[in-house]
Amino acid sequence: MSDALLRADLLRWYGKAKRDLPWRRNPTPYRVWVSEIMLQQTTVAAVTPKYESFLRRFPSLASLAASSEDEVLKLWAGLGYYSRARNLRRAALSIQDVHGGVFPSEFDAVLELPGVGRYTAGAILSIAFSKPYPLVDGNVIRVFSRLFGLKGRVKDPGFAQTLWPLAERLVPKSRPGDWNQALMELGATVCTPDSPSCGACPVSRHCVAFKKGLQDKLPLSETRREPVPVRWTCLWIEKNGKVLLWRRSDKERLLKNLWGLPEKGRVAAVPGRLLAKAAHSITHHALAVELRAAALDERAPLPPEARWAPRGEIRDYLVSSLWLKLL
Ligand code: ADE
Repeated sequence: MSDALLRADLLRWYGKAKRDLPWRRNPTPYRVWVSEIMLQQTTVAAVTPKYESFLRRFPSLASLAASSEDEVLKLWAGLGYYSRARNLRRAALSIQDVHGGVFPSEFDAVLELPGVGRYTAGAILSIAFSKPYPLVDGNVIRVFSRLFGLKGRVKDPGFAQTLWPLAERLVPKSRPGDWNQALMELGATVCTPDSPSCGACPVSRHCVAFKKGLQDKLPLSETRREPVPVRWTCLWIEKNGKVLLWRRSDKERLLKNLWGLPEKGRVAAVPGRLLAKAAHSITHHALAVELRAAALDERAPLPPEARWAPRGEIRDYLVSSLWLKLL
């Protein structure tokens, strides 16, 4: 069957079945860009409320460019992968400097923005500018693997590479943004990783996996990577209504450049009574964290990474959900 029929079937379905998501209303380049950065490693359900509060605080590129990094990080709290938030702010500054505050509409210029790769550039160009650029993300990889009967793993970058030419061939000149979103929407709501709803699929008549009964075999299942166990003992050091915080460097393995509670050994204090325990996972790491009360040895100088913060303000600093669990 032809590409044209496939496009028509999927686009007709998307017109009727698309979810009402905040970034789909008024899809300006700025709004689409923020949504696509948030959606990169985070689900629609987790993104939606954060997106709305982010857009309330930063309704425009100019407001984001005028912000402080700490404030952007605070609004990003709980979404993880905090370098995305830093890049977002840096990109807003760069659009002010290089493009006079107007979001660029050329692919190469968009691709140069910090934090923007081929996927995000394709999403912005197609959705906000109606330009026929393709995109490939995890949902698209799964949909293509089944639709065309291609054996590969979603997380294998080599497999994803082979799908870009296919995505390029299929993306239509008219409604490219709807097409790209329809592929992702199909993957999110119908062509799901487990037990796909082939009976409800608008393109099952085009689908190689469906015809061969291979929808549960494709894409190939991931080779499981055991998470790396990490144990931390963190210190709760409180004095005169202030709590000792620690700014983690960019050399850290986890939670780089973020404020946290000091780990044992970073300041002159001996861990004492156990206050709380939490388990938390961060990209292939399984953290087991203990929080212990400690008193600071006042004779030792305080390292520059340490800062006393008023008890009532520490949630402004501690953005990772790990700290929420412990507190
Ligand atoms: N995932 C990433 N971008 C998306 C979009 N625009 N619509 C639905 N799911 C998405």
